[in-house]
Amino acid sequence: MDKIIVSGGHPLNGTVRISGAKNSVLPIIVATLLSEGRCVLEDVPRLADVQIIKDVLGSLGSEVSFEENTMMVNGATVDKVQAPYEYIKKMRASVLIMGPLLARFGRAVLSLPGGCAIGARPIDLHLKGLETLGAQITIRDDEVIAEVPGGKLKGGHIFLRVPSVGATENLMMAASLADGETTIENAAEEPEIVDLANFLNAMGARVRGAGTGIIRIKGVDVLHGASHAIIPDRIEAGSYLLAGALPGNRVTVSNCIADHLLPVLDKIRESGATVEINNMANTVTVIGGERIKPVDVTTLPYPGFPTDMQSQFMAYMTLADGTSQFTETIFENRYMHVDELRKMGADIKVEGRNAFVKGVPTLYGAKVRATDLRAGAALIIAGLAAKGETTIGDLYHLDRGYEDLIGKFQSLGAVIQRLDDGT
Ligand code: EPZ
Repeated sequence: MDKIIVSGGHPLNGTVRISGAKNSVLPIIVATLLSEGRCVLEDVPRLADVQIIKDVLGSLGSEVSFEENTMMVNGATVDKVQAPYEYIKKMRASVLIMGPLLARFGRAVLSLPGGCAIGARPIDLHLKGLETLGAQITIRDDEVIAEVPGGKLKGGHIFLRVPSVGATENLMMAASLADGETTIENAAEEPEIVDLANFLNAMGARVRGAGTGIIRIKGVDVLHGASHAIIPDRIEAGSYLLAGALPGNRVTVSNCIADHLLPVLDKIRESGATVEINNMANTVTVIGGERIKPVDVTTLPYPGFPTDMQSQFMAYMTLADGTSQFTETIFENRYMHVDELRKMGADIKVEGRNAFVKGVPTLYGAKVRATDLRAGAALIIAGLAAKGETTIGDLYHLDRGYEDLIGKFQSLGAVIQRLDDGT
């Protein structure tokens, strides 16, 4: 299995360009299933997850080509409504195909996505919302069979118990071709929801209110092809900027929308690092402070502090002058990185949804593993600050969400490499 080796103690100084957002490009690629024309997507990051969703669409009959960072999709050739089992198991975001398939073909069959390391991650809100729009859903032997009697979804009023990102996306897509108007209340407000809504509208949909808690969709009969550039990945940007916050470092990210990162930038400032925003140039620079001040973090739905930045910020806080408290309110099991950080000398106590991080003067390189996508980034940040060498295994997770991770960190001056130990 491949592994990453990071040598700590080398200062970072430089600029990296942020790639298209993983959590925007996945629903947008799925949304092309709604279209009967050709779509051109720019700034598509080269990620393992993008390859999987490309394969899912291919298995449904879509013609998909992917050169450099441009993806061309022809939805006119879609002729299946069941994706192979292994794809859904590989990546739970594949559950997003339900909305478009039901909206366009009146039927969708897929295996129930499993949970993952960070939590059970049920899809009850997706299914309940689709039933509100007229779908009949049966779950049999780990398979979800969804059908629309009469063939066409009908607009309805949906209240999401939790502002679920995935459920909001699935239901926005389903409602785009439904008969009549749909309202989604307590909708997720993430920038990726807005990006998807902009793409749907570019295809001829009528989505209003994305980015607020109430989204209204007026169904239309057909969606045509469209071109769209994916927004930059705020979590990738936050991960590099946190590395820049370590004392002695200075990191600039380009192709970054600072407005998507405000709660993270605010906490970085509170910790004593300097943050410079240039909205004209779409760049953000972080310069490490003399010391790291302890800062408390509670994860919340957007526009609160993102759960996808929790583990990276915790890695940073392991070296603070004091104790910081983390509260993870989104996922029930998103502290697996704690054991790995402890192997490097971190002093962290977990009590349910809370973690208390007591800063230590030094971290030491160790053999650790990436327990989920963002934990992998957290361990690289810790490895950059540690004394000695850190070896990170289980890289599959990292390949899912960070384009050219090694190259970008090396361009900042990090002594980091990826080894394929041939096993
Ligand atoms: C999206 O996951 C992101 N993934 C996650 O990013 C991100 O952490 C999450 O949103 C929260 O921001 C993609 O966009 C591909 P949710 P999603 O539905 O849609 C519960 C990363 O690292 N829930 O907003 O699955 C759920 O269990 C990944 O890039 C239900 O109870 O997240 C969780 O506790 C990790 N029933 C909470 O809602 C449902 O039907 C938020 O989940 C759906 C969700």
